Amino acid sequence: MTTPTYVFDAYGTLFDVHSAVGRYRDEVGPKADLLSAIWRAKQLEYTWIHARVERPATFAALTEQGLDFAIAAIGGVQKGLREELLSAYRSLLPYPEVPDVLDDLKGAGARLAILSNGDPEMLDAAVHSAGFDGIFDAVLSVSQVGIFKPASACYKMATGFFGVEPAAISFQSSNRWDIAGASAFGFSTVWINRAGAPDEYPDMPASRIIKDLTGLAPKLTG
Ligand code: LAC
Repeated sequence: MTTPTYVFDAYGTLFDVHSAVGRYRDEVGPKADLLSAIWRAKQLEYTWIHARVERPATFAALTEQGLDFAIAAIGGVQKGLREELLSAYRSLLPYPEVPDVLDDLKGAGARLAILSNGDPEMLDAAVHSAGFDGIFDAVLSVSQVGIFKPASACYKMATGFFGVEPAAISFQSSNRWDIAGASAFGFSTVWINRAGAPDEYPDMPASRIIKDLTGLAPKLTG
């Protein structure tokens, strides 16, 4: 019997990417949700383009460029807010159910890891500010392999770290494109469909679809 091994995407899955703008909702004004959505979309697009043209970049730099585009797209924000938002991105709030779910899985003897496009120091800051120190067996940043998810080299970091076949890993992400990459790699995948979005990538399906991470625990204990 192998030890259950859960690998989590970070941004959008454990940490609420919209909590940075959420903290400055009044200062940003009525376009706050739009700013946050454009910021996230551009940050991701920039990772895919950099991976495709094989141009190295840090996730922090692409996060900053995504914010600059989003600020320009909504017509600007008040002075100093750009820096506040970037700083807030380093201490994103975890989704409400995450601390208990991680504690339950850890308590049941599972091995836990993060596998993220984030830079190591961004991930360390997020883990620390959320109070998750000591929870994860590994916080794996794709910066070690020099390409962004969904490149297979990224998912391979997890099988390499745990010394198991892909199918032995349960990979959780709220990003459907990430689930597609993880499914193609051979992980058992759980799409955390927080937004109730329609399914896509039918040729790279999720093994399970749940609405938040609380759905993970019964699988382990029941
Ligand atoms: C992550 C982003 C892409 O890898 O959600 O954490």
